[in-house]
Amino acid sequence: MCGIVGYSGPSNSVGPIIEGLSRLEYRGYDSAGICLKINDELQIIKKEGKLDNLKELIQELKPFSHTGIGHTRWATHGGVSTDNAHPHGNDTFAVVHNGIIENAGALKKELMSEGLQFKSQTDSEVFLVLLTKFFKQSGKTLESISKAFQALTGNSAFVIIEKASDKLYCVKRSAPLVVGENSSTREAYVSSDPFALVGFAPKIYFPQDGVICESSVTNSDVQIKFYELDLTLSHRYKTQANAMTVDATTKGPYKHFMLKEIHEQSALVDKLAAYYIKDDGRKILESLKDFKPKGWHLTACGTAWHAGLVIKNFLEANNRQNASIDIASEFRYKNPILNQGEVGLFISQSGETADTLACQELCKDNGIPSYSIVNVEGSTLFRNSDKNFLIHAGVEIGVASTKAFTLQALTGYFMSRAMEGTLDNPELFTEVQLLSHRIGELCDSSDTLKDVAEKVYTKKGFIFTGRGKYFPIALEGALKLKEIAYVHAEGYAAGELKHGPIALIEENMVNIAIVGPELLEKTISNVEEVKARRGIIIIVGPTNHAEIEALADAYIPLNFEGLPNLSPLYVNVALQFLAYHIARLKGTDIDKPRNLAKSVTVE
Ligand code: F6R
Repeated sequence: MCGIVGYSGPSNSVGPIIEGLSRLEYRGYDSAGICLKINDELQIIKKEGKLDNLKELIQELKPFSHTGIGHTRWATHGGVSTDNAHPHGNDTFAVVHNGIIENAGALKKELMSEGLQFKSQTDSEVFLVLLTKFFKQSGKTLESISKAFQALTGNSAFVIIEKASDKLYCVKRSAPLVVGENSSTREAYVSSDPFALVGFAPKIYFPQDGVICESSVTNSDVQIKFYELDLTLSHRYKTQANAMTVDATTKGPYKHFMLKEIHEQSALVDKLAAYYIKDDGRKILESLKDFKPKGWHLTACGTAWHAGLVIKNFLEANNRQNASIDIASEFRYKNPILNQGEVGLFISQSGETADTLACQELCKDNGIPSYSIVNVEGSTLFRNSDKNFLIHAGVEIGVASTKAFTLQALTGYFMSRAMEGTLDNPELFTEVQLLSHRIGELCDSSDTLKDVAEKVYTKKGFIFTGRGKYFPIALEGALKLKEIAYVHAEGYAAGELKHGPIALIEENMVNIAIVGPELLEKTISNVEEVKARRGIIIIVGPTNHAEIEALADAYIPLNFEGLPNLSPLYVNVALQFLAYHIARLKGTDIDKPRNLAKSVTVE
C-alpha cells in the first residue's frame, strides 16, 4: 500500500526518489517523507498530506545527497500526521516500512520498559528501535537487521540506510520489494514496485521472503549481495530486465490516469486476444483443453471479485463446471471445504493483495493447485501460482480499477473457451474484435455520458441494477461511482429491489438500470417499480428501443448485437465513463480518491 524508493549512487538521490514516489503515490497518500545522508548525518524531511507538500519543502531546502530513502504512506498503525510519516530515524539508522507488524504492541511495551523511547505511534518505529538496540549490542548492521526482523510477526517490507555507510539494505516477508541496478551509471535502487524504477534501473532483482539484500556502490561498480537470515549467502532471488517504458508513467493527452486507462481498453482487448488466441499465451491456454476439475474456488477482492463473478458465470453457464466465488477476506476465515481435484483461481491486478494471497496459501496448504489471473508478472501471486494467466493490462495507476476488470474478465472467458476446445472458432475472434470496436465507439462518444452525468450528479444516491450476467456489472458500476465520486451507490440484482432496497426510492434517488436483451421484459418491470415511486431512471439499454427509452429520464443506448458473451464488459465501460464524469462534476481527486490506496497489502 505504501510506496518505497531508495537510491545510492553518484547522482543526487533526491531526483530519482521523488520521481519514484510520484509514480507510487497512487498506492498511499496520507503523508510522504525522505531521509538523506548528508555530511555523514541522516536528515529526515517529511510532511503530512500528499506528496506535493513534501515537494514544496524540498524545493525550498534543495538538499543534495548520494544516498536516501523515501516513502508515501497509507496509514495503518498511528493516525495521519507528520510524526507518523516515514522515514523513522535516529542518529544511527533510518527505515521505511510497508506492511503491518502484528506484535508491535507487545514489543513496544517491552522496549519501553527497557527505557527505550518512541517518537511516533507507528508499528514501523518498533523495527527501528529494535534494530538500534541490537546494533548497540553488536555493532553489526546485517546481524542487527536479521535479529530485529526475526523478532517481528506479520507481513512487511523494510528498507534501511545507516549513518555509517552509503549502503541500502532491505528485507521483506510477503510484501512487495525489488532491488534495481544500473551498472552503467553505477546506481543501486530499492522499491516496492519496479514501476518506480522504469527508466532508472534496467535490471531488477526479486528477493524472496526472509532474504536480506545489501547494495553498495563503489567507484567502479554496483555490488548487490543477498543473505539468508543466518547471514550465509543466499541465492533465493530472481532477476529480470525491467521491460516497462517511460510512456507508461505519464497521462499523455488525458486529464486523469483513469481516463487514459478507460481509453486504453479497446486496444488492450485486441492485444490480449492476439496473445491468447495466436501468440505466446496460446500454450498456457491449451494446457486447459478438456480440463474438468471437480470444482473451482475463485477468490479476489473489490473489482477483481466482480470480474470473478463474471468468470464464474462463464464457467457455470458455458462450461457447466462447478465454481464458487468468495471475497478473499471471507474465504480465508470461513474454514472452506477444499477437496482434492479442485482448483483455486485467484484474481488480482497487483498480485499483492494480502487477503487474496492468504487464500492462495490456504489452498496450497490443503493441496489445491493455484491458478492466477494476474496483471503484474513477478508479483507474489504470480510467483506462488502453479499456472498464471496474465492479463497484460500494463501499469494501472488510477486507484479505481478499470482496464484490469475488462482484461481479467476477458482472460477468464478465454480460459473457459480453452476448456471447451473452441479457441479456433472464428466467432470467438469476431466477438472479441466487436467488443474492442464497441468500446472504441463508446470512447468516441463519451461526451453523451457527460450529459447524463450532468442530469444526476447532485442527486442523493444511486442504485445500480442488473439481472443475470449484468448483476456483477451493477455491483462494479456502483463501486466505481462511490469510490471516485464519494456518493452513496449500491449494486443490486434487479429482481431483488422489491425485497428491501426499494424503500430508499424517492425523487432524489437514481436507479441506473442495465437492461440487456436477456430477461428484458422482467428487467423492465423492475424499472417500472422504481418509476412508480418517483425514482430517477437512467437506463443502459439496447439501441432503437423506443419503448424502453420512453421510461427513462436519461437513456444510454448500447448495441448489444453480436456480443452474446462479452456484453457485460461493454456495458461496464459505459458505467466507467459515467462514474468518471459524475466525479469530475463533483470535483473529486479522481486518480487518488480519499482513504484509498492501490494494492492493499495489509489485511
Ligand atoms: C476498485 C479497486 C479495488 C481492487 C481490489 C483488489 O476500483 O481497485 O477494489 O480491485 O483492492 O486489488 P487487486 O486486483 O490488486 O488484488
